Amino acid sequence: MDFTDKVVLITGASSGLGAATAIHLSKFSAKLALVGRKELNLKRIALYCENAKGLKPHTITADVTEDGDVQRIIDETIETFGKIDVLINNAGVVAMGGIKKTDMEAYDKVMSVNMRAVFHLTSLAVPHLQNSKGCIVNVSSITSTKPNPKMLAYNVSKAALDHFTKCIALELAPDGIRVNSVNPGFVKTNIMKDLGLSEDQLEMIAQNMASGNPLKKLVEPDEVANLIAFLASDKAKSITGCTYPIDGGRLLV
Ligand SMILES: NC(=O)c1ccc[n+]([C@@H]2O[C@H](COP(=O)([O-])OP(=O)(O)OC[C@H]3O[C@@H](n4cnc5c(N)ncnc54)[C@H](OP(=O)(O)O)[C@@H]3O)[C@@H](O)[C@H]2O)c1
Repeated sequence: MDFTDKVVLITGASSGLGAATAIHLSKFSAKLALVGRKELNLKRIALYCENAKGLKPHTITADVTEDGDVQRIIDETIETFGKIDVLINNAGVVAMGGIKKTDMEAYDKVMSVNMRAVFHLTSLAVPHLQNSKGCIVNVSSITSTKPNPKMLAYNVSKAALDHFTKCIALELAPDGIRVNSVNPGFVKTNIMKDLGLSEDQLEMIAQNMASGNPLKKLVEPDEVANLIAFLASDKAKSITGCTYPIDGGRLLV
């Protein structure tokens, strides 16, 4: 794969799957614009990326739920690199609870990061993607189609995201813009840690998830990064409107 001279904008690049994707794409000479709220983490990931091919990523400390920040993400990327070839909408948060235990604050937060911010950033990126005939990869989840009542708001946000992927794939196909999503099963990242779970609790969840998967293994962040890179690359030039599970077979059981 080759991303030489391709400008890739990644949200949630300071941790987990976004960081793994940034590091993966840096090995293929991508010009990276990396977004997250935690500046130190973002700079640390940027340094890893720079070490791959000597290309310095542009880091943008921003909250994707703030409308002004979303505009700044696009403006800074264009000022720095002059174009956008690939948008990777990856930033996301989880809230635990079903209909009995999810308050509206938790619902609003999840929908705001996982769906509203994606809608907003994508709408501002589209004119630039029209110019570059670029593509979008959204990071969804298998919970978009496999109901998990313990994370209702999260499930709903990812179901909406999948439909968004398909609708805009249809709308933007005449512009030569492809839109797809990756839908991972459980991957060990900071997303559950941010809910306040201890290392022991996280390890127990990870073991349960691995043993419950038909392949009896967890998906590694780098595997998701590899799938995102494929969908963002010219190798996937005939693929649009698709949602790709990467879950050790979890959707089968
Ligand atoms: N891990 C899994 O099991 C799994 C499974 C399926 C799908 N996913 C999806 O994968 C994506 C990445 O999650 P992850 O597992 O890598 O989690 P993670 O390690 O917690 O990373 C989440 C990223 O999102 C960023 N983020 C969150 N809220 C933000 C906001 N308001 N503004 C800007 N950035 C924000 C975080 O940056 P800062 O902290 O610096 O703000 C961080 O870089 C999410 O969309 C998630 O739903 C994860």
